[in-house]
Formats: sequence, C-alpha cells, structure tokens
Amino acid sequence: MVESEAAETGLDSYAGFLAEYPKTGPGTRGGDMLRRYWHPLCLSNDLKDLPYPVRMLGEDLVAFRTAEGKVGLLGARCPHRCASLEYGQIVAKGIQCSYHGWTFDRTGHCTAMPLEPANTPLKAEVKQPWYPTHEWGGFVWCYMGLDKQNPPPLPKLDLLARTDGKVTLQRGIILPGPEGTPVVVEPVDIRNYNYLAFLENFVDMGHIYALHMILPPNLPEDLRPYCDLSVDTDWHRTQHRAIETDWGIKAVVVHNTANPEVKFVNTFSVAMPIYYRFSGLGARQADFCDDRRESGGVIRIIDDKHFELIRVSLVREGNYRGRAGSFYGKSAPGTPQTMAMRGALPPKPYDRRKYPAWEGNIVLEDLVIQESQGPIPPRESEHLATSDAGVALLRRVWRQSIANVANGLPPKTIVTDNAGVFDVDTFKGFAKASDIELGPRNMPSSRDGRGLIRDDAGRLVFA
Ligand code: FES
Ligand SMILES: [Fe+2]
Repeated sequence: MVESEAAETGLDSYAGFLAEYPKTGPGTRGGDMLRRYWHPLCLSNDLKDLPYPVRMLGEDLVAFRTAEGKVGLLGARCPHRCASLEYGQIVAKGIQCSYHGWTFDRTGHCTAMPLEPANTPLKAEVKQPWYPTHEWGGFVWCYMGLDKQNPPPLPKLDLLARTDGKVTLQRGIILPGPEGTPVVVEPVDIRNYNYLAFLENFVDMGHIYALHMILPPNLPEDLRPYCDLSVDTDWHRTQHRAIETDWGIKAVVVHNTANPEVKFVNTFSVAMPIYYRFSGLGARQADFCDDRRESGGVIRIIDDKHFELIRVSLVREGNYRGRAGSFYGKSAPGTPQTMAMRGALPPKPYDRRKYPAWEGNIVLEDLVIQESQGPIPPRESEHLATSDAGVALLRRVWRQSIANVANGLPPKTIVTDNAGVFDVDTFKGFAKASDIELGPRNMPSSRDGRGLIRDDAGRLVFA
C-alpha cells in the first residue's frame, strides 16, 4: 500500500508513528502524551536553599523550596529580559530574579517589580510558566499537563510505598570494583540517548541471554539444594510472551525444569511511561535465594536525547537467612563463554571504541549497546524479528496512547488502589506449572508470594 504524503506525517502510518514516538517536547504528539502523567523531577533532598535548574521534557525549568518548605517549579527564563532564575533569590513565597528584582510566586504570578511604578499594569500581564509539584516517596514529582489547577492524583509507585522491607534509592552508576567492593563510577546516571531505547531494552527478554550471557548462578553451598539448576535456558524451548496490562507491559519468560510440575518464571514490567520493575538481581536466582529483592526504577525524561535513571530497590524480609553476596554474580568462573571472564581481560591498546573492555557488567553492557543505537535510533531501517515481541508491544501501547491523546482521549490508565498505590507486579522464581496461565492477571505475583520459597524451617514450599 502506498501511503500518501499527508499520512506519512500523521500517526496513521508506521513511519508517521516512528517520527512521533521518541518526541518529548511541548507541542509534539509524543510530548503531549507524556505530559498526561506525573514525572520524577528530582529527589526531595536536592532542594535545599538554592534554586535548582532542571531540564524536563525539553523545557528548561527552575525548582526551589521556599522558606515555608513548599516546592515551586517555574520556567527558567525571566520574562523581563531573559536572565535565568537559577541565579534568582528564594523569597518567602516564591523566587526573585536577581537582575531587576521581578518576583514570581509558585503559580507564576508576578508579585513584585521593584523598579516599576507601583500601579504598573505590567505586573498583572506578565505570567511565568509554572507546573504543579508533589513531594512523596523521596522524590519531587511534577505534572506538566494542561490542567495545572487540577492535576490527576499522583500514583504512588508500589516499590516506594511498600513497607515489607528496606527501600533504597540509588542515583548514579555503581559497578563492582576490586574484590567486588561497589564503586560509584558516575554520581548521576544521565544517558545521552532517547529514553525509549532503555524501555525497549527492558522488555527485550532475549538480550538477557545473547548480550549478558547469564548462566546458572554460582550459588552459595547452602542454597544449592533449593535452586533448581535444571532450568532449561534453550531459547527455542522457553515460552516467551509480551502481555499488555492495564498500565503497560509485562515481558515474561517461562523456562522448563527437569520437573514438569515446576517452571521457572521471570517477569519484567514497564508501566506507562517512566516506571520499570523486576524481581531479584541477575536472571536465574529465584526470589527465595535473593533476599526477596524487588527492584526497578524511574526514568527522568530530560529531552529527546537525554534521560536520567534513578534506581529503586526493596530488600524484603526474606525467607533466606543465609550468606548473601557473590551469588549475584554471573556465571561460574572458568566457564569460557562467561562475561565475567571476558570482562576480566585487560583492554587492548588498539581498541578504538568509546568503551573498551566493556563486557562483563550488566549495567555497562546495557548502556553501551543502547548508546550505540544512536541518540534517536533510525528505526525505519530496522528489521524486527520474532524476539522483538516485547518491543513491538511497547510500541503498540505507546502508539495507542499517543493517538488517544491526539484525539482528546486519555492515554493508558494508571489504576491505583484506595490508598493511591500503583501496584506493578513482577515475579522471578519457581512456580507451579498449574498456576501459570499467561495473561494480564494470572501470572505469579511477587506481592502475594505465589512461588516457590523457603519457609521458616528452611523447607522449600509454594507460598
Ligand atoms: S531579567 Fe529578570 S528582572 Fe530583569
Ligand atoms: Fe540488559
């Protein structure tokens, strides 16, 4: 079918959709869709007694905390003669531009023009762009949609709301240093490519095997009887599905084990449009041998070509009370194909690539490959294949939401419970074959614990 030129620029054609898909700025269809959701702006403790410049969804903004403790978020450029409010003075109810003293409250009204006549009409005419904010869960959130006076309620992300373990926020990139000691290699994790490359990678379960080459974990001795190393990782024998849910996408892999009654299930979730969730670390440890860790993070979308990752993890009150540690690692040392082996090799002096000797750490492997796709990948030149079911579904969900917003309809809904908590399920572990019915609501759940875990006496039980 030949698309008309007009259709090529709209969402009706795939090419038209691809043009909008990575857009984040104001006045774009992609950006309009993103503006229907709350976004993480910064951490609460970033806002001290100085203005805080921050770029969000392609807009340069300044956040500040008033003496009363309230957070304001205004356009960065002063409407007088364009000085940046990042150099302004925080005052009782707003911020004052340092150049000529024009002062703005948290909703963009000009409250003072000290060099102008007292009755100047200009004071009522000038409006500074502003956005509502909400502090919760250690973050400052912002809503950049049109209805600023009546934003939707902030969905409280489950990982941040949970009380059944210890929640930590991690900024920056931490890699294992000598002897496994964690080393902060970047204080903030800002990527110089479009956020969708990260999300597409997240629902691309095949890359876990091909890129990361994750193999049976090197478990501590006391866990080995409880971790079924008969898990079959042959790609052709796994059930591999991408499932649309109310809030986004679950990418699911179900592996056979030697016991036909027992399956190993791994689920990665992406909730519209900035929240990603998984269970455990590594890829093959079940919950019970992982201190029942829940992980994920939020994406702060800076603009079309930049985003920041802030990781969230919750270490639950686990069933496993034994030694923790090295079993988070990849394959057993000595296996020739392991990334650990490759990563251990010294960089070659003739390696001309930006990231020499990049293999061996999952975070770095993902970063390198995603960045190599380009700031905005030329997706029109791709050849999607069967392993891209998750990517294709993610694009369908984005396309539908972008089209809905362009047509005056709501994007994909975020459903919260009565307490405002937005529950995004993931699961990694062993489950009864009879419990697994791949579908939006029938997967084993990390919250209700329908998986194989240890009981208090150390027995392996389904619970
Ligand atoms: S430029 Fe801001 S008050 Fe003049
Ligand atoms: Fe990865």
